[in-house]
Amino acid sequence: MATSSSRSCLQYLFHLAHDNLDFRLPEIKALLALRAKPFCPCENFKEKVPFWCLDGLSEEDVRSIMARSVCAKSAFELWGHGPTHTELRTSLLNYPLEKMKPFMHKDSTYRINVYTFNTTLEFADRIKKIDAMDYLPFEGTVSLKSPQHIFCLLEDYGTDPNNIPEHPNYIYFGRWIANGQRELIRSYSVKNRHFIGNTSMDAGLSFIMANHAKVKENDFVFDPFVGTGSLLVACAHFGAYVCGTDIDYNTIHGKGRSSRKNQTWRGPDENIRANLRQYGTEKMYLDVMVSDASKPVWRNAAFIDAIITDPPYGIRESTRKTGSHKDTSKPPDGMYVESHVPVSQAYHLSDIFTDLLNFSAHHLVMGGRLVYWLPVYRPEYCEEMVPLHPCLQLISNCEQTLSSHTSRRLITMEKVKEPEEVDSLAHLSNPRFSPYQGHNAFREKYFSGVNKKCGKEDNISEVNGQ
Ligand SMILES: C[S@@+](CC[C@H](N)C(=O)[O-])C[C@H]1O[C@@H](n2cnc3c(N)ncnc32)[C@H](O)[C@@H]1O
Repeated sequence: MATSSSRSCLQYLFHLAHDNLDFRLPEIKALLALRAKPFCPCENFKEKVPFWCLDGLSEEDVRSIMARSVCAKSAFELWGHGPTHTELRTSLLNYPLEKMKPFMHKDSTYRINVYTFNTTLEFADRIKKIDAMDYLPFEGTVSLKSPQHIFCLLEDYGTDPNNIPEHPNYIYFGRWIANGQRELIRSYSVKNRHFIGNTSMDAGLSFIMANHAKVKENDFVFDPFVGTGSLLVACAHFGAYVCGTDIDYNTIHGKGRSSRKNQTWRGPDENIRANLRQYGTEKMYLDVMVSDASKPVWRNAAFIDAIITDPPYGIRESTRKTGSHKDTSKPPDGMYVESHVPVSQAYHLSDIFTDLLNFSAHHLVMGGRLVYWLPVYRPEYCEEMVPLHPCLQLISNCEQTLSSHTSRRLITMEKVKEPEEVDSLAHLSNPRFSPYQGHNAFREKYFSGVNKKCGKEDNISEVNGQ
């Protein structure tokens, strides 16, 4: 078997999916951070290409990343690479024999796969390519059905389907280590979920959010705008205890009109708990309750490991909060008398984000993460619009385009300091700590004539997988 020293200093090749381009880097970085490993790309790293070569990892690191990633398709121990087959051969012949040997000895079984990206090869051509690798010192027996080791020749023909080169742009050869979790996108699809709503978050994005938040086993995860609980479903899959609130009584209690075609009313047991039960994670369900995210209902303590949420934009759901006809009647301690009947008031988007960041600063544990979507009007967007907080460090900001004029940005922040009294005045000294006023107009801009013309892309519920 290989010794730990002969297996050190290896390079690993990750094949990334081409969808969700913007979310890939923060996902892999977050999964590395869970193992206290930095992101060390090899020379000539380019973020938008399908293959990344990373240094400084162990095989165990790679396996644990792949056990979580929905952006990475597969990972390999890289043995050789080059722009042509001749250069690949030179590179492979330079790869230390002692690193290859444990997987090539005479008692081992193996197979070689050929993968081409952005083109397809005839079976006979693939066999030819495998035969041409006879310079590698394989001593074991080929087993197509159950090999101990799988090797892959990966040919990259670029990303433009209208411009496929005759020869690959680049070629890699390596030992397959693991596949990522792309299968979760299908197995957790909202199409087959027990309880859904108009704004249920798509499964792939829910898992990406849980990964950006570094959710891990036994964490306590909270979603203040829980809706049908799609984000809780993803976090529970990764072993976190989950809990949420929503202002909508019908959503929390699974009552009222159904969002499904051919169904008028929600059936019995259409609720978040049943969703977790569907995926075998009911034991991770703490509870959900009807509550207004603008009101403080939690004890004043930092006990939440991750806050993951999709606040209302006011497009398919209302942005309302509770209040009183006469705000002057509100007592100074914020507690209404028992006879108080709350009324609904507009909850401005800028206030939603200010409240969310303040809540996170107070209730996240140190190092805990807030992951949320920020809707933006693209022609006016600039990075300075992303709300900041003195206790939260901005980790990543990824765009998902919704239409030519609108997008939403997946914002990840990490708590780096406990809030002090002075932090409540921070907005006076730095405009980035003050509410993002532009959001108040998001709804009007979304429904503006320009957007309506943009057809299919403009459907937010489509983006959410319905
Ligand atoms: C975009 S949806 C969340 C969808 C959710 N991620 C899911 O997968 O179903 C936003 C939710 O926020 C809720 N909401 C609106 N205003 C609220 C408030 N003031 N406090 C708590 N929840 C609120 C809405 O009822 C809605 O369910």
